[in-house]
Amino acid sequence: MTGTSGRDTMVISRRLLLASSMAGAGSFMAGCSLPSPASVDRTERADSSGSTSSALAGGPFPQGFAWGVATSAFQIEGAQTADGRTPSIWDAYAEVTGNIADASTAAVACDHYGRWEADLDLMKELGVNSYRFSIAWPRVMPRDSGHVNSAGLGFYDRLVDGLVSRGITPVATLFHWDLPTYLQDAGGWENRDSSAWFVDYAQAVFARLGDRVGSWATINETKIIAQLGYQQGSMAPGKRDTLASGRVVHHLNLAHGRAVQAFRASGASGQIGPCFAMSPCYPADERVAADVVDRIDLQENRLYLDPILRGSYPEQLDALGGEFVRGLDSAIRPEDAAVIAANVDFVGVTYYSPAIIGSSGPVQRYPVAANGWQQLYPKGLQDLLVRIHRDYKAPNIVVLENGVPDARGEDPTHDSQRIEFLRSHLSSARQAIADGVRLTGFHVWSLLDNFEWAQGYTQRYGLVRVDFGTQQRTPKASATWYSKVIAANALVD
Ligand code: FCB
Repeated sequence: MTGTSGRDTMVISRRLLLASSMAGAGSFMAGCSLPSPASVDRTERADSSGSTSSALAGGPFPQGFAWGVATSAFQIEGAQTADGRTPSIWDAYAEVTGNIADASTAAVACDHYGRWEADLDLMKELGVNSYRFSIAWPRVMPRDSGHVNSAGLGFYDRLVDGLVSRGITPVATLFHWDLPTYLQDAGGWENRDSSAWFVDYAQAVFARLGDRVGSWATINETKIIAQLGYQQGSMAPGKRDTLASGRVVHHLNLAHGRAVQAFRASGASGQIGPCFAMSPCYPADERVAADVVDRIDLQENRLYLDPILRGSYPEQLDALGGEFVRGLDSAIRPEDAAVIAANVDFVGVTYYSPAIIGSSGPVQRYPVAANGWQQLYPKGLQDLLVRIHRDYKAPNIVVLENGVPDARGEDPTHDSQRIEFLRSHLSSARQAIADGVRLTGFHVWSLLDNFEWAQGYTQRYGLVRVDFGTQQRTPKASATWYSKVIAANALVD
């Protein structure tokens, strides 16, 4: 992290662990899987200053708590040309040899476009009262920003009706990474016009669905788009251009703010908020200086939280210099700050992994999931929720994603390690509530095994197993367990 190009190399979250393991410690990761329940427990005790998860298991969650599951359009729908849909940047990215681990595509995925009613029945059986899904922009505006494709939007109209009739609150994400390719060809998020395109699209969606959708998440995880899509190139659009990633972050923030304004103007009845990918940062040991950890926290968290929740980018960013900051600065106009900080109703977060900072870069301290990048540290969830509550005076907070892939070597439908994962993370969330956080809901990633981006079908995150040959759905043990938790509105054994 020295010199002006520090930002180019300091990509900490998610797949960084995978990248660094490939570079140097491949064999170390190869045998890694989820820890046994006992070791999760030990981790909890060692790090939660004496407050164990079991002590909390009996406490109910707040009344009206949103118990949900989450998916995204590209990962489950398939039907890539149905009803006028055109390709997204992810269709294009998946077609390039070498980009997807198992050389698969999402052409069929879970065929949710054809099977959505049965999938909603599955949710009803699970007992969830909240469903986070995303709307595919290339279905809604497949050819140009002005023209709404009513057939494409009709799919979501039926989906939302189907949810409401089953007593499940629709939580719709406007953008979960599937930008239409015609907009990428026009510069994508590097182009300042992108926020205007996004408003055109969002207005069409608000007009059709705004009377029934309970909550809207604007942009899914700007950080992941910037780091993996524009710095590492390991996600669509597959660029390695740090300067561009700075511009993209600002334009995504602007798109978020303008969509919030458009939402208010639409008179729709629901709520709206951002969706941040959070990585709480910790020093690996006492030799790591606090300012080193702060700097990573700046890049991983505050860079995204501050403009939306505080009205300005963190001042310390300037001191970092480098291509990223140059790109960001080149995109900012004075009038943008107030737009980006438009008042939101909730703060949406996703949590998978902490960032553990050693003296010469990120390190592994906790067991790693089968995806190779996710360190299992349940207390990170409590820490990040308390931090957003405390430092940002957040209104309501909602967990929009938390989950883990099937463990290696475990019978896929007897996924006791996922149960232990969810139990420990929900316990951590419950502790945050006890600490005063206004946490209103929790969405498990994911309802179904699905197309996990560059990892293709090699990582299965579902509560429900999908046989991709027959499309048969089989609830895993975790689905049964989650149903019991929902019914009790409290953690159960
Ligand atoms: C999140 C993404 C989601 C899925 C999970 C595992 O960052 O939003 O689509 O890939 O990771």
